[in-house]
Amino acid sequence: MARRVVATAYGGPEVLALVEEPVGPPGPGEVLVGVRAAGTNPFDVKIYSGGLGRDPAKLPMRLGSEAAGVVRAVGAEISGPTGAIRVGDEVVVFRAAGAYADEIVAPASAVLAKPDELSFEEAAGLMLVGTTAVHALAAAGVAAGDTLLVHGAAGGVGSSVVQIAVASGARVVGTAAPERHDDLRRLGAVPVAYGDGLLERVRELAPDGVDAAVDTVGTDEAVDVSIALVADRDRIATIAAFTRGGGLWIKVLGAGPGADPGTAIRDAARLELLRLVRSGSLRVRVGRVYPLAEVAEAHRTLAGGRAYGKVVLVP
Ligand SMILES: NC(=O)c1ccc[n+]([C@@H]2O[C@H](COP(=O)([O-])OP(=O)(O)OC[C@H]3O[C@@H](n4cnc5c(N)ncnc54)[C@H](OP(=O)(O)O)[C@@H]3O)[C@@H](O)[C@H]2O)c1
Repeated sequence: MARRVVATAYGGPEVLALVEEPVGPPGPGEVLVGVRAAGTNPFDVKIYSGGLGRDPAKLPMRLGSEAAGVVRAVGAEISGPTGAIRVGDEVVVFRAAGAYADEIVAPASAVLAKPDELSFEEAAGLMLVGTTAVHALAAAGVAAGDTLLVHGAAGGVGSSVVQIAVASGARVVGTAAPERHDDLRRLGAVPVAYGDGLLERVRELAPDGVDAAVDTVGTDEAVDVSIALVADRDRIATIAAFTRGGGLWIKVLGAGPGADPGTAIRDAARLELLRLVRSGSLRVRVGRVYPLAEVAEAHRTLAGGRAYGKVVLVP
């Protein structure tokens, strides 16, 4: 039997419950993974809070799309994006269905070798934010020599955007709360506080102009400042301004009406992320770790936005 988190209804963290369910042996092309850590993301909240619909037929609903763990069993003919998969391998699973669990069965196509450079907790928080960051940078056409503005630069996606852009030779100005500015400097970005006067502050920091912008926040301020500073709207990508973004001819990515899901580019990005981790260019910051049984508390922390890193569940 596996212990797993399900949403028993649509609502707040109080609808999350731990249940025991049988987990089958892996079929052909599948892998049974003992989960050592599962990453949480704001998207998980949108699913059970009803932000993406309230179909009662989907309840109880499994949650979580990324995990790190150890292979316990494999089906026939097994090979994943990073090669052969064997019992005992340390792996990252993305996209996983129902990753908030102590054991999951996943298709081999979602199972990649865990880089030794990351703990299980760090590895569990690598892929969703990292693949989103690669997609956003590609959409905004960011290249060496560019000056890039990142909104929400200290968040999960934002800090990945910063590190990958810096590694590619871009100069990055990133918005964050003042208490996170030292973190941003350590990642190689020039920090700037969001809020009134942001446009003028960024102009001062980037007197030669801003070539591209990535918005991970979705506020009017983030959208308006990006439009004021970046001449070519094709070089502004947002992963959060779904309502406003579409009408402004900027790139709206990932979810929501008219958004580009970028499935192929995000799947391919997984290997690039592993390479960046191994070369020391990309790190994952874990903010808080909770036992699976305390998932509701973990989600309160996630919603509070003050974890200062990924919120991770461990069985
Ligand atoms: N479309 C997609 O494909 C996709 C994929 C992944 C995530 N997302 C969405 O992208 C958003 C960010 O995800 P995440 O995982 O990076 O979340 P996160 O780790 O919670 O980061 C969010 C960041 O937003 C910053 N922030 C809060 N209010 C702000 C404001 N008014 N102005 C500027 N920054 C502000 C916070 O920075 P401070 O700590 O500095 O205040 C925080 O670090 C979420 O809405 C998520 O659902 C979309």
